[in-house]
Amino acid sequence: MGHAHKFMTLERYINEQEDLHPGATGEFSALLHDISLAAKLVWREVSKAGLVNVMGSTDRMNVSGDVVKKLDIFADETIFKAMDHGGHICVMASEENEDILHIPDQYKAGKYVLLYDPLDGSSNIDANITIGSIFSIFKRVSDSGKGTLADCLQPGYKQVAAAYIIYGSSTMFVYSTGHGVHGFTLDPSVGEFLLSHENIRIPAKGKIYSLNEGNFSNYGPGMQKYLQYLKESDKATGRPYSLRYIGTMVGDVHRTLLYGGIFAYPGDSKNPKGKLRLMYECNPMAYLFEQAGGRSSDGEKSILKIQPGSLHERTPVFLGSVEDIATCEKFLKGER
Ligand code: AHG
Ligand code: MN
Ligand code: MN
Repeated sequence: MGHAHKFMTLERYINEQEDLHPGATGEFSALLHDISLAAKLVWREVSKAGLVNVMGSTDRMNVSGDVVKKLDIFADETIFKAMDHGGHICVMASEENEDILHIPDQYKAGKYVLLYDPLDGSSNIDANITIGSIFSIFKRVSDSGKGTLADCLQPGYKQVAAAYIIYGSSTMFVYSTGHGVHGFTLDPSVGEFLLSHENIRIPAKGKIYSLNEGNFSNYGPGMQKYLQYLKESDKATGRPYSLRYIGTMVGDVHRTLLYGGIFAYPGDSKNPKGKLRLMYECNPMAYLFEQAGGRSSDGEKSILKIQPGSLHERTPVFLGSVEDIATCEKFLKGER
């Protein structure tokens, strides 16, 4: 569906996609619309974060032990309130809340489940560095009524959609419903997300690697050998690679999706499961990378194959070009 990109709004694109896929109920489109509205409400605060006192930290720690920033809480509440009354969702779960979040009794419970990281990269807020929000959507497995923990703890391959918002030099909405990955850029003057990156495909191989090398001394031998390999000079394989890392997953993976290469948050001797959360960060990003012709891995297999045991569990995560993930896995398995 080639488009003159100007003025193909997210709204129209979702509706056209719905027509393309018989059986897609309008409910799903409405759910995506609600998420894009939540994105604009968060963007409005984020874009003036320097002006009002949403900067700085609260005295709260979240379940993962991270200091919670005021914008985290604002984003968390804004997304919940934007999504709780549309009638499309039966339960939510947020990185910022220990337990599942029920839909208020006065609203209808729908057939979808929403898990989200309301504000990703919050340690970067005060430095005005790119931050984001991440969304993962499943169909409920329980029959009706209030959603349950089981509705939330589904393996990533059962996702029906995933999306992220990147609040950068421009604000973008990137999503997939299983028919490719599409990017929309917010035109603040009209308050609409306009199609700017239709059918994003990640290159088969890149020349950028993205991880926090500060953890190098705690990595296993396979990971250390892989990083040393990337730094050796070899024109035939495009080495040495360049290192790019901003410490906001959404920013680092968006660049990897467009330019190719590899993003990683490996496990190490201090944190064998790494730092990133399976349900709120790794599953949605793995879905998007695989939809864009890339790969995800926990070091051995696709992230989407992991059967979750708890709401806030972490997993080592590798996302990127098919060839780069394959090479990395070989080093991790001691085959190179
Ligand atoms: P969040 O702000 O939602 O807690 O996420 C922060 C994550 C992720 O955005 C990023 O990739 C990672 O933390 C960076 O961690 P390090 O500072 O350890 O590299
Ligand atoms: Mn995050
Ligand atoms: Mn977060």
